[in-house]
Amino acid sequence: MKRTLISTAIALISGLAIHAAVQAANDEPIQPIKPPANINLGMVELGKKLYFDPRLSKSGFISCNSCHNLSMGGTDNIPTSIGDKWQQGPINAPTVLNSSLNVAQFWDGRAADLKAQAGGPIANPGEMAFSHTLAINVLESIPGYVREFKQVFGKDKISIEEVTLAIAEFEKTLVTPNSRFDQWLLGKKDALTADELAGYKLFKESGCVACHNGEAVGGNSFQKMGVVEPYKTSATAGGRADVTGKDADRFNFKVPTLRNVEMTYPYFHDGAANTLTEAVDIMGRLQLGKKFTKDENAKVVAFLKTLTGDQPNFALPILPPSTDKTPRPTPFAK
Ligand code: HEC
Ligand code: HEC
Repeated sequence: MKRTLISTAIALISGLAIHAAVQAANDEPIQPIKPPANINLGMVELGKKLYFDPRLSKSGFISCNSCHNLSMGGTDNIPTSIGDKWQQGPINAPTVLNSSLNVAQFWDGRAADLKAQAGGPIANPGEMAFSHTLAINVLESIPGYVREFKQVFGKDKISIEEVTLAIAEFEKTLVTPNSRFDQWLLGKKDALTADELAGYKLFKESGCVACHNGEAVGGNSFQKMGVVEPYKTSATAGGRADVTGKDADRFNFKVPTLRNVEMTYPYFHDGAANTLTEAVDIMGRLQLGKKFTKDENAKVVAFLKTLTGDQPNFALPILPPSTDKTPRPTPFAK
């Protein structure tokens, strides 16, 4: 009895300490990333398989992980993606890490959420170049999948609805808590060096936080690229205006998350900035009319690198084998 009382008291005190730390963190424009909650584990395991399965593409070669490589920060690290038959994509692939925190999906926000997004690439002729019907035919020909879909969703038929639900549920687990910056936010005062802290101060005081804030340090609003000075690019994306049709939204893009930004090069929707040094310089001048000195730039970059959190960590899923009935891929032009 006594012991329970004491441990209750300890739990209460440490609860208060955490509360105080969170309170302190709340005074900052950036909040620590929370681990995923309310996850359906069966659905996550199925979604993980689908995420890695190239049989959802026409070529049998391209999976979500081809362009959102989870060994490389959830991106492909090239300016614009390579799709079916080596087609050059029109825009840089954003990271899938922490994408569950986004206000909407895609640079122009045309998909409301992860589930709405997940059906897109499979049927996009410039990406996986398949169709939803063909993808379902492939899955239904594989007994391992039929069994697992039945287990998770309790239905005999597979539809694109369940496919996108499962992928979205897996993506919810792709959050990256515990970065050094988050440790600092939560009270570990020696988690950052003096230069990194100075970089954070510059980031706040120069006005970067006006657009890059919240849990994902971005991802929560659409903003103009080139507020003070226009951005020059040969890319044709119109940004948010492509969705709303409003001229005022031209060249407004979803502010990218800066979580794990050290890993998600190259930068901007056209992938034109190869380094963080370059991206920070451009942001300072074009968005804020501020030219950082070399030393200031290095400090902001040092701060940005503290935003790298724990990367998704799991065994590579082993995919159920195809059968004689499984439609075969068409990787080459016929
Ligand atoms: C051929 C490369 C390619 C493949 C394959 C691909 N994606 Fe993407 N993905 C992209 C590109 C490029 C964008 C940005 C498109 C845009 O904004 O117009 C994107 C955007 C996204 C986004 C939005 C992220 C954000 O911050 O807005 C998510 C989530 C995503 N993809 C998940 C997936 C999933 C799940 C799959 C597999 C079903 C997949 N992608 C397959 C290239 C790819
Ligand atoms: C007015 C809003 C706004 C302000 C202020 C702002 N940014 Fe941005 N930031 C954006 C938008 C929008 C993009 C995407 C632009 C694009 O891709 O064309 C972006 C992109 C970036 C990127 C590239 C991320 C990626 O994955 O491509 C970095 C790094 C960045 N900002 C850092 C900063 C820093 C550092 C500051 C302060 C000097 C800053 N930003 C100020 C809106 C803003």
